Amino acid sequence: MKNRLMGFASAISLGIGLAASAQAADLEVLHWWTSGGEAAALNVLMEDLKAKGIGWIDMPVAGGGGEAAMTALRARVTAGDPPTAVQMLGFDITDWAAEGALGNLDAVASAEGWDNVVPAALQAFSKYDGHWIAAPVNVHSTNWVWINKAALDAAGGKTPETWEELVAVLDKMKENGITPLGHGGQPWQDATIFDAVVLGLGTDFYKQAFIDLDPAALGGEKMAEAFNRLMKLRTYVDDNFSGRDWNLASAMVINGEAGMQMMGDWAKGEFLKAGKVPGTDFVCIRFPGTQGAVTFNSDQFAMFNVSGDDKVAAQAAMASAIESPAFQSAFNVVKGSVPARTDVPDTDFDDCGKKGIKDLAEANTNGTLFGSMAHGHAAPAAVKNATYDVITAAFNGEYADGAAAAAALAEAVAAAK
Ligand code: BGC
Repeated sequence: MKNRLMGFASAISLGIGLAASAQAADLEVLHWWTSGGEAAALNVLMEDLKAKGIGWIDMPVAGGGGEAAMTALRARVTAGDPPTAVQMLGFDITDWAAEGALGNLDAVASAEGWDNVVPAALQAFSKYDGHWIAAPVNVHSTNWVWINKAALDAAGGKTPETWEELVAVLDKMKENGITPLGHGGQPWQDATIFDAVVLGLGTDFYKQAFIDLDPAALGGEKMAEAFNRLMKLRTYVDDNFSGRDWNLASAMVINGEAGMQMMGDWAKGEFLKAGKVPGTDFVCIRFPGTQGAVTFNSDQFAMFNVSGDDKVAAQAAMASAIESPAFQSAFNVVKGSVPARTDVPDTDFDDCGKKGIKDLAEANTNGTLFGSMAHGHAAPAAVKNATYDVITAAFNGEYADGAAAAAALAEAVAAAK
């Protein structure tokens, strides 16, 4: 009873804060949602806030994975003028909290019972020192493959379930005269594929290498095999892959120029934006060999320390809007991700979304849910960036073989830790 009363009291004070601030505080929001599908999802958020009287000053910083956005953020904070709310991933959030730069969302979180509905794997990044510092919008995962349905049919029609079957389908697509793998040569995209390749060699192996940062796993035989597989995948991209944005690689699959893309489920947002239907125009599968396991990342809005009660109230109002179950459904249906709460029905989601929700819940129960290295949920930025360097060098053929790349990875991670 006491808790309920306290929750009620803070809900009222929040409501008052919001009412008082409604015209006053605009949120300045830094994010990297600039592709067609991302912008469509962002619009769901902007409209939702607008309807609640919360203004939005847009600060987009293009660049998948958010590296450029994080550089822009650092400059703003150093100048003593942080944005009100910032899209952020995993360890970046807790690292900023450790610097004392983030505000506190405890009042809204306790009034709305977030502790009970946000999965623990996300809370690990939404809370610091027991306090809520960020509002999770979604859960994405990186071990997906998006396949053009007509190209798959022309390659035999069966979705690959193992590495060997994957290679066979890619070979067939090559024979059929299309680019088998739509890909953009940017470090974070190479690393996104590598998440899945490593996971495909075993969940224990992924955990030892990327979560525990065990030198023996990072530099050992399995990692050598992972790099050999990555180099094999490199043989299926087109000549113009270097530097291409991820959404242009999605477009290649959408228009049939390429057979498939190995990318997180934000890629689905591009297919949907183009009017494509899962099962009819494209197929979503887990990266062959990773069925039953999930490498996740969660976009969260971290709230920076800002002065002015109206701004603080606007932050709480944005956080509250984001955590509403109806918003979680509406937004994630468009974004390609799945809800950051466990109590949102899958009714409005397409088949890929329903599968994403189910896979996440099962992986969570079975102990096969891991943070994505490529997207900042396995290790802090210094280690992540060290892996990017080696993965990209390997993708571009700079090592003699997988064993040499694995040795370089172990060394780079040791130096960055
Ligand atoms: C984010 C997604 C985003 C993707 C590409 C990921 O790190 O979590 O929300 O769509 O990068 O920009």
